[in-house]
Amino acid sequence: MSLKDVLKDIEGYQEIGEEIAVLKKYGTDHSSQRGQVRKIIDLLHPGKLKLHVSEIIRETGSTKTFRMVSPDGYLPPFQAGQYINLVVETGGIVTSRDYSISSAPSQTAFYDITVRQIGEGFVSDYLLNDVKVGDEFQSSSPAGNFYYNPLIHGNDLVFLAGGSGITPFMSMIRETLSRGLDRRIHLIYGSLTPDDVIFGQELENLSRNHPNFNRTLVISNPPEGYTGRRGFITADLMKETLGEDISGKTYFICGPEAMYTFCEKELYRLGISRKKIRTEMYGPPKDVSEQPGWPASVGRDAIVTVSIKNGKSVQVRTTEPLMNSLERNGIVIPSLCRSGECSLCRTKLLKGRVFQPEGVRLRASDRKFGYIHPCMAYPLSDLEIQLSNAEFSGSQD
Ligand SMILES: Cc1cc2nc3c(=O)[nH]c(=O)nc-3n(C[C@H](O)[C@H](O)[C@H](O)COP(=O)(O)OP(=O)(O)OC[C@H]3O[C@@H](n4cnc5c(N)ncnc54)[C@H](O)[C@@H]3O)c2cc1C
Ligand code: FES
Repeated sequence: MSLKDVLKDIEGYQEIGEEIAVLKKYGTDHSSQRGQVRKIIDLLHPGKLKLHVSEIIRETGSTKTFRMVSPDGYLPPFQAGQYINLVVETGGIVTSRDYSISSAPSQTAFYDITVRQIGEGFVSDYLLNDVKVGDEFQSSSPAGNFYYNPLIHGNDLVFLAGGSGITPFMSMIRETLSRGLDRRIHLIYGSLTPDDVIFGQELENLSRNHPNFNRTLVISNPPEGYTGRRGFITADLMKETLGEDISGKTYFICGPEAMYTFCEKELYRLGISRKKIRTEMYGPPKDVSEQPGWPASVGRDAIVTVSIKNGKSVQVRTTEPLMNSLERNGIVIPSLCRSGECSLCRTKLLKGRVFQPEGVRLRASDRKFGYIHPCMAYPLSDLEIQLSNAEFSGSQD
């Protein structure tokens, strides 16, 4: 068989050949079409977005929604459940954090992000205390894999939310109910106190008006006289509220690291298999020294030195993600997920040891060639690292 015969068997080969012939016939240089696909992708899904705050909505005592619009009127489409990586510059430090989009993807005029102030949080404090309508930001395009896939997840969904982990679910719930999609959703939402429940009134109205949406609130630190459900999202609570067919459902978990680790174990106790569970890691753990595997010999908040090959050396704390420490010193490594998943911040470790908690997705080649993910790597000793794509502010001594 000749090469020509083989090529003919390739799907689309004939059509492309015919198209090139037509372009040639009418004098169009077909090579001018090169790069068009890339251009269209960049247009629809640009790497960076300019956003400005068009409205700020107070949700609870510690939470605000920031409505972000684009100065040029175009925001890329997203899947309910995705987040943006918001770049923030405050006090001379450039850093970024991820925020799930809480608005529904069916409206394209704005992205809502809903931020909880965690107390002494670098970015959440700044957003809640200082940001005003009209302020400008840069962000990534929507990203992340925490969304519903109709081919895999079926129609019976359970959302387990903790605290600000309600935000991606809010987008999914708003989309499903406003578009009348054929899905049943049961939300189990854990909060510290009743005052911390975000979107409480809207969730109540939605559950009243939509038979395919139920919500169960559970409060871990209720005030005296509270009559609703108390405690955490346990296996018993799920058995009690979800009915008989527990194994046929798909479970999505989102919230602080301690909450989703706990809920995942409770689901295993119910016999739910790993493939029926989707999780979104909400950034670094609150206290990394309490994570399984943290070496007892390394002091909490001990200080070590990180030397950058052909660059400066900085002092960092063992319990802060390396990426954050570098940013405090004017060194910004590209980042997206800030949860150890996307590999964008991949950095070569030349010397020393780091701790990377469970859930950090190192590839086999990362392990083999000594790469780490600084967004979720904690220095255990003095380090030497090699940076390839970092941006520097200030002088490099
Ligand atoms: C995919 C994704 C989506 C998210 N969506 C949302 C959302 O919709 N809403 C929302 O409110 N949040 C969301 N988050 C969390 C958010 O990105 C931030 O992590 C959160 O706002 C806290 O950031 P911060 O700068 O205020 O806190 P940080 O200053 O980063 O502090 C976070 C924690 O790290 C520890 N820490 C910080 N600095 C140090 C230090 N020097 N030494 C030791 N420990 C330290 C502290 O225990 C602190 O509690 C999301 C995270 C991810 C990954
Ligand atoms: S930013 Fe995604 S792995 Fe570090």
